[in-house]
Amino acid sequence: MSLERIDFSSVPRHLACVMDGNGRWAAVRGLPRSKGHEAGLDALFEAVDGCLELSVKWLTVFAFSTENWRRPVEEVRFLLEFNREILRRRRDELNEKGVRLRIIGRRDRRLAGSLLREMDKAAELTAPNRRLILSVAFNYGSRTEITDAVRSIVKAGYEPAQIDEEVVAKHLYTPEAPDPDLVIRTSGEHRISNFLLWQMAYSEMFFLDVLWPDFTRLHLFDAVAEYQARQRRFGGLDQ
Ligand code: FPP
Repeated sequence: MSLERIDFSSVPRHLACVMDGNGRWAAVRGLPRSKGHEAGLDALFEAVDGCLELSVKWLTVFAFSTENWRRPVEEVRFLLEFNREILRRRRDELNEKGVRLRIIGRRDRRLAGSLLREMDKAAELTAPNRRLILSVAFNYGSRTEITDAVRSIVKAGYEPAQIDEEVVAKHLYTPEAPDPDLVIRTSGEHRISNFLLWQMAYSEMFFLDVLWPDFTRLHLFDAVAEYQARQRRFGGLDQ
């Protein structure tokens, strides 16, 4: 798959990825799961570079779910520390590429102060960038996000009759982001897993069998070409 098949006038504005299969990638090589996550980071940068080549404006990736706390404690510890390291070691590189980085999810007590500070620093450094807005979902769950939205709507004192879809959407973590046009999930699993449930109402889904660490920008170009061949009707009829 090359860039020639891509119609640059209709690339998705917002792409979302469930980066699945790091653990299996490591297992088939007889490696610890942490090695799979490290390899997954290279694939994440492939996705970033692919989005930059295509001029996709928003990329949201699922890095740690509210359910991932159920994993063995060493893996959880590794993912928390790994995220902090990535933010520190790679933020300048993302900044130079013109990427704005944000972390979305619940900032609860389970996240160390040092991790929250790295998140804020990276967000602040890259805030003026507009080439690509990369949202990393960390300690994220869509039901938690919707619950948080309900709480803040109640706190803001809305009357029931004032609450419509626009009000709910405005209280989600990234109200200014357009809904994802295309959602990619790797590793052959066909699930949503509590990711962007509200925002995905009309997204096109693309599932592929490769494990996340093997994902390259060529897979991304393939997904975009297929997306462009589909017809989106948003509940209406063909024109
Ligand atoms: C899912 O694969 C992947 C994760 C839970 C972690 C994703 C993290 C990265 C791609 C690295 C980048 C990290 C950050 C913090 C930006 P899995 O472990 O569920 O794989 P399996 O289904 O094969 O076990």
